[in-house]
Amino acid sequence: MTKTVGLIVGSLRKNSFTRAVAEQMAAFLPEDYVVKDIEIGKLDLYNQDLDDENRVPESWQNFRAEMKTVDAVIFATPEYNRSVPGVLKNAIDVGSRPYGESIWDKKPAVVLSVSPGAISGFGANHHLRQSLVFLNMPALQQPELYIGNVTELLDDNLKIKNEGTLKFLADAMNTFADFIERLS
Ligand code: FNR
Repeated sequence: MTKTVGLIVGSLRKNSFTRAVAEQMAAFLPEDYVVKDIEIGKLDLYNQDLDDENRVPESWQNFRAEMKTVDAVIFATPEYNRSVPGVLKNAIDVGSRPYGESIWDKKPAVVLSVSPGAISGFGANHHLRQSLVFLNMPALQQPELYIGNVTELLDDNLKIKNEGTLKFLADAMNTFADFIERLS
């Protein structure tokens, strides 16, 4: 059955390595899957007063409504100072409130971390996984998706040139689709 998967990328950079890898990875989902790019760069910063006082910014309203239309989520994150970028954490926080109305609850997720460095964004990947536990999002455990030394894997057009990496990402998306089906 058709499923819609939200793609949330934690980098706003136009030539983002993370986005490049994430988009090519998501394209390996089965044909009847629709990938929806979820914009998080224009979300107002989370402030609980705005929820409590019914002054919910339009950016939050649109984001929360859009997230209700997706069946599962791909989180693709760079690593900033061994954690996730603030823009991604802000999106997680905005989606998690008001209390009891989280848009994340029970949605299957997969985490991809990407870095030019050798540690592959491990810190960001696991900080994000820590939030997913609290958000009650079942996260794909294996394969773990750490893409390190990314500049060596991409050509000048940001296309993945390494066959082994392409196969790894394709297999991962098949496993993720099975995971989503099992939880449906
Ligand atoms: C970084 N970078 C980085 N890399 C890493 O492997 N571990 C880290 O902790 C950090 N910390 C960090 C902090 C800040 C504020 C910036 C701007 C960058 C480098 C980072 O991996 C690199 O800039 C990537 O290219 C960012 O991902 P995108 O934008 O290419 O997807």
